[in-house]
Amino acid sequence: MVEPDLAVTEIREEREADRAAANAVLVRAFASVRHSRGRETILADGLRDGGGVTLGFVAVAESAVVGSLLVSPVTVNGALSGWHALGPVAVDPDWQGRGVGSDLVREALARLKATGAEGCIVLGARAFYGRFGFLHAPELVPVGLPASAFMVLPFRDRWPEGRLAYHPAFDAI
Ligand SMILES: CC(C)(COP(=O)(O)OP(=O)(O)OC[C@H]1O[C@@H](n2cnc3c(N)ncnc32)[C@H](O)[C@@H]1OP(=O)(O)O)[C@@H](O)C(=O)NCCC(=O)NCCS
Repeated sequence: MVEPDLAVTEIREEREADRAAANAVLVRAFASVRHSRGRETILADGLRDGGGVTLGFVAVAESAVVGSLLVSPVTVNGALSGWHALGPVAVDPDWQGRGVGSDLVREALARLKATGAEGCIVLGARAFYGRFGFLHAPELVPVGLPASAFMVLPFRDRWPEGRLAYHPAFDAI
């Protein structure tokens, strides 16, 4: 166990050398998630190897990767759109509840916004993502996914119009 007062030292862009450690965090973090089928590393590697990473970040503490977040492009009516998807996001269980996940999400959203993106979508816990401004948008959920957990964060007061689709790597989960 780590000491409660030890702070995460850095949120930085993911590098190729971080892949194994970031995947290990995904495995540990999702092991206790009820709806997980344990395929998050297949998704992450599919994004990395398939040109599906718009932005990737790791949280580093004491020289170890303790958090991971990827952002991938979303298509609207089959075309790249300026919309992006947040996730997977994971924090090592020993480091959860200390603000690491929030730091990762805030950094990703700030950097994404700075690129001129239209906005971001996410599928996840509304209680967690709502605090970053994500709005429940069940009517926009891509086919086959749970509408109750689908949220949108527009950066420019414009909502996506059309059929949204995640990168094909998401088919793995
Ligand atoms: C979700 C996750 C990334 C959050 O990381 P974290 O470092 O623990 O988050 P933070 O410390 O910044 O924020 C913790 C807050 O988020 C809330 N939270 C965390 N996971 C939550 C969830 N699944 N549902 C609702 N709230 C959640 C906590 O209750 C806490 O709330 P509080 O600030 O009011 O006390 C992390 O818990 C995790 O890796 N979970 C397993 C993998 C997962 O579910 N990923 C997200 C898939 S959408």
